[in-house]
Amino acid sequence: MQSHKKEISASMMCSDLINLKETLKIFEDEGVEHLHIDVMDGTFVPNFGLGVDYIRSLRELTDIPMDLHLMIKDPEYKFQWVGIKENDIVSVHYESTFQVQRALDFLEPFGCKRFLAINPATPVYSLEEVLDYIDGIHLLMVNPGFAGQNIVPSTIKKAEKVMQLLKEKNHEDVIMEVDGNITLEHAEVLSKIGASIFVAGTSCLFTGDIKDYAKNLENLRKAINQ
Ligand code: DX5
Ligand code: ZN
Repeated sequence: MQSHKKEISASMMCSDLINLKETLKIFEDEGVEHLHIDVMDGTFVPNFGLGVDYIRSLRELTDIPMDLHLMIKDPEYKFQWVGIKENDIVSVHYESTFQVQRALDFLEPFGCKRFLAINPATPVYSLEEVLDYIDGIHLLMVNPGFAGQNIVPSTIKKAEKVMQLLKEKNHEDVIMEVDGNITLEHAEVLSKIGASIFVAGTSCLFTGDIKDYAKNLENLRKAINQ
């Protein structure tokens, strides 16, 4: 198995707006690699989420690259709205457009990392035809749209299947991000399976008080680097 660096993506929908600056300072000090931004349109998922004005303001507060999780219908026509930067990750969902390969093509000129997101029930073989056009797979461990949900148990086995597919197809350059109910226990198991980016939400990072965040990040770092 090709080994990739283990990285943390802090889920900003779980953060407290009142302490935003202080929270970002902790993330910078702790070397958090990505800010996970759940963009939701109320159509592709049953919730509204972080939008373009929030993203623009956040850019002024920090240089931590963004991990833009687009849970929106027909994302290929909306990339310009978001203000994508070269160091960002952008995830589009397999079911969010009839032409997901076109969406990945439309993303290429932005120079960002292109990820394909798949829901718990999306078959692993959906990935096969697009492996040449992606840098990563964004594996949802919950049905997307809300923080604080319980893992869909079959997704752990599915993570193994994804790694198996990447091996079989000689595509171990493609990395796997895991998102949803990433507790320390799940993080450790998924890291051993081969995941390299871990979305840290209410399950491991945004728990307790802001004073606990640095320690929470250190514990997560330990769990994924065992
Ligand atoms: C899903 C979201 C959530 C959340 C992760 O779209 O990305 O998975 O922020 O945090 P948890 O599940 O730990 O609350
Ligand atoms: Zn997400």
